Amino acid sequence: MEILDPCTGTGTYVTELIEYLPADKLEHKYKHEIHCNEMAILPYYIANLNIEFTYAQKMGNYEEFKNICLVDTLDHCGFGGKQFDLFAMSVQNTARIQSQNDKKISVIIGNPPYNAHQENFNQRNANRSYQGIDKAIKDSYIKEGTAQNQIVVYDMYTRFFRWASDRLGEKGLIAFITNRSFIDSKTFDGFRKCLDREFDFVYIVDTQSDVRNNPKISGTKNNVFGIQAGIAVMFLVRNRKEKK
Ligand SMILES: C[S@@+](CC[C@H](N)C(=O)[O-])C[C@H]1O[C@@H](n2cnc3c(N)ncnc32)[C@H](O)[C@@H]1O
Repeated sequence: MEILDPCTGTGTYVTELIEYLPADKLEHKYKHEIHCNEMAILPYYIANLNIEFTYAQKMGNYEEFKNICLVDTLDHCGFGGKQFDLFAMSVQNTARIQSQNDKKISVIIGNPPYNAHQENFNQRNANRSYQGIDKAIKDSYIKEGTAQNQIVVYDMYTRFFRWASDRLGEKGLIAFITNRSFIDSKTFDGFRKCLDREFDFVYIVDTQSDVRNNPKISGTKNNVFGIQAGIAVMFLVRNRKEKK
């Protein structure tokens, strides 16, 4: 089973995976089945260090981690491995992107960036348009939506949901921690409708931590990131053989 963190930052989720996996299975997973991407150079280098350090601590030997790519994940929507861009700076990095694009990914985990009313994470990520993924959003979430102004649906986190939903094959799982706005906002009705259609099971842990909408809580102590925007964890399961 191949696992991908498409916006890995400093690699915390991958290091947690390394900690979690049984030592006798880890070498194979580490070398072949754990993948991650990061588009900013500084966290990319830190992720490299963190991942390799965590592996060495657990296994007692150093092993280069070859499955991290310096790349803008959302620029790769065709999954044909044919696109090379400015981020694919070195021959080695280009080869890694190609290799990842050729893999059948069945688990996608992460903590994508988000824009709308965001307190701090988007400072790492300048807003830009993404032709491929934005078209996919227009043809799905927006098309199914009924609100007049749906601009917020082109949030970075929904772009990652769209990307991950298209990246998975017939069977798989997405687990993202994101802004919770998709749960009850009217503007996200199309998004919710599409999740219902595209997945067989949807589990949401709503941390009820939207400070602006909940007068009973205040400050920045009420969610895991110390920010005011509400946070949710969503698990999307696609298993075509099961009954919905
Ligand atoms: C909220 S942070 C993730 C933090 C991460 N879980 C960690 O352990 O550090 C989001 C990360 O996604 C990266 N990012 C944003 N847009 C991206 C994209 N289009 N492709 C790849 N990485 C992206 C940002 O640079 C940032 O490091």
